[in-house]
Amino acid sequence: MQIVIVGAGYVGLVSSACFAEFGINVTCVDSDSERVRELQDGRVPIFEPGLEDLVKRNAAAGRLAFRDRLSDAIGEADAVFIAVGTPSRRGGQAADLSFVQQATRDIATGLSPVSSRTVIVTKSTVPVGTAALIEQIVVATRPELVPGRDFDVASNPEFLREGSAIEDFMHPDRVICGTESVHAEHVLRELYAPLDVRNLPMMFTDRATAELIKLAANSFLAMKVSFINEMADLCERCDADVQDLAQGLGLDPRIGPRFLHPGPGFGGSCFPKDANALVAIARELDVDVRLVETTIRVNEARKAAMADRVREVMDGDIAGKRIAVLGVTFKPNTDDLREAPSLIIVPKLLEMGASVTAYDPAGSAAPRALPEFRHVRWADSAEAALRDADAVVVLTEWNEFRGLAAHRIADLLREPVVIDLRNALNAQEMRNAGLRYYGVGRGRIHPLGP
Ligand SMILES: NC(=O)c1ccc[n+]([C@@H]2O[C@H](COP(=O)([O-])OP(=O)(O)OC[C@H]3O[C@@H](n4cnc5c(N)ncnc54)[C@H](O)[C@@H]3O)[C@@H](O)[C@H]2O)c1
Repeated sequence: MQIVIVGAGYVGLVSSACFAEFGINVTCVDSDSERVRELQDGRVPIFEPGLEDLVKRNAAAGRLAFRDRLSDAIGEADAVFIAVGTPSRRGGQAADLSFVQQATRDIATGLSPVSSRTVIVTKSTVPVGTAALIEQIVVATRPELVPGRDFDVASNPEFLREGSAIEDFMHPDRVICGTESVHAEHVLRELYAPLDVRNLPMMFTDRATAELIKLAANSFLAMKVSFINEMADLCERCDADVQDLAQGLGLDPRIGPRFLHPGPGFGGSCFPKDANALVAIARELDVDVRLVETTIRVNEARKAAMADRVREVMDGDIAGKRIAVLGVTFKPNTDDLREAPSLIIVPKLLEMGASVTAYDPAGSAAPRALPEFRHVRWADSAEAALRDADAVVVLTEWNEFRGLAAHRIADLLREPVVIDLRNALNAQEMRNAGLRYYGVGRGRIHPLGP
């Protein structure tokens, strides 16, 4: 089989490499020529464990190629996947579909006149009705093409998570496909056959439902995170422990243990934008989705409140204090900074008069370029960030930080204050080393100190 994937970002690149690994011939197209040149030279422009090897191996085997022009790539492709970005529209909640629309026009132009009935598949997370819109754009661009005869449009939302994207693609919980076309269903089943062999739940539904499943899934997970964050606040007031609470809740299979980790608020390229997109769609359709609306508000307030928490535990004043920040990406094992809590918390700490020295294992090149981090100093190791700081704030739970020895932290810090907004460190060890340790939802905000 032969497919084209439009977009060489997290989703497009991972999907391209994984489909190629299945033995499918994949051309991955990105309009960013610089990115394509890097990929053609064997360099992978994003940080994702295992991706570089997979890309190199499949490119060397001749199954994976990169192009910057879609029209050169489509030919007789069995399917073209759209995996371009769908960010929130500037100043609004709804998804910006301009990249999808442009990609669709390019696909329509590239479809061969005697088409092999290519299936256009949306992998991007899109509003309900986008598959129908894509169909209209193709017909408006190429009036001679008839849907269901010359091409089909299907929805196949992607559920991979950055940081474990390859594992998620290769061993998904489910593959959701939205199509009413027998031909499209056949093509999708064949493409995913290497997974299906292992009895993967592959669900077929209509296009609108498939589109909505993705937005509903991310909104639900966002709600779960905000729920446990509120429980953490409650635990702090009544001297309870949210880690044990989460475990107790999660043992109920109706609730499940995952996504019950309190922290500084959810971020990333998906949860905030997809929850907002769901709200925008519901408003347009005059439906109340107050739980999701509230989740968004609760999360925004939480990120902002985290800087106040740092100030509170540092006796109400951080002006002139040096704070070491460990981790700025929205989660570990990615270099993605989109909507990361650090983008709100760090500027607030700076505004309050603190100086910030940060370290992130994914490097400082990308964060340095962001205006939010203009006044941040960057260290090239966790230890260098900690040296002579008045407090350390853990913002991302990279494994590297879990390995920091408590006595070493105590030696490096000027003041023994550890504010662990991810509950990533061992509270008991910190306490034994004489540190004032503040976790999230683990008893009162007074320290678990000596
Ligand atoms: N990142 C995730 O973890 C994740 C998970 C599941 C779903 N998604 C969804 O998948 C989609 C893509 O997300 P991402 O994080 O991979 O985005 P991304 O921003 O990392 O990558 C998008 C790529 O598309 C390219 N592009 C844009 N318009 C193009 C065009 N007309 N032709 C060719 N290339 C074009 C861009 O240059 C960019 O490289 C989004 O809808 C997102 O919500 C993302």
